[in-house]
Amino acid sequence: MRYSLARDNRKGKAMARVKELRVNRARIGVDAEEGETLLRVLREQVDVTGVKYGCGEGQCGACTVLIDGAPVRSCLTRVEAAIEKEITTIEGLERDGRLHPLQQSFLDAQALQCGYCTPGMILAGVGLLNQNPRPTRDEILRAMEGNICRCGTYPRILAAIENVAGESTEQDR
Ligand code: FES
Ligand code: FES
Repeated sequence: MRYSLARDNRKGKAMARVKELRVNRARIGVDAEEGETLLRVLREQVDVTGVKYGCGEGQCGACTVLIDGAPVRSCLTRVEAAIEKEITTIEGLERDGRLHPLQQSFLDAQALQCGYCTPGMILAGVGLLNQNPRPTRDEILRAMEGNICRCGTYPRILAAIENVAGESTEQDR
């Protein structure tokens, strides 16, 4: 059962609970109250800690995940909005022991320092490439402008994305 009604004794009313999510190509059992953030459920119940808490207000992009291939802020996404949708976190980008081309490109371009923003940056980039495989520099800058890097690695992040723009990233579609 993916969604059920349970009695909340504190409030004396029925509360819907989310019982299952699809994360990184697996069905994962959870027990989350409607209205909890997807960020919290992913980190605390699914144990995918590559999803980072930054601002909690949709302003930094550290919590970015893909839902059905499109980037979303998991800190602003209610868990019930992700039921029966495919959620991809940084842990799910690797396939058969091979990094996603954009993950490899970030390494090759040394596009990280502390790495805190990196999962969100890469997922935002993959989301862009899913929708637009050959983005221009302006399109990359627009797509990434909501992702903040406190270490200031923006030029290398841009280079990492430009280096794979136009190449096949088929594995994530
Ligand atoms: S933690 Fe979600 S946008 Fe900052
Ligand atoms: S690498 Fe440190 S916040 Fe981006």
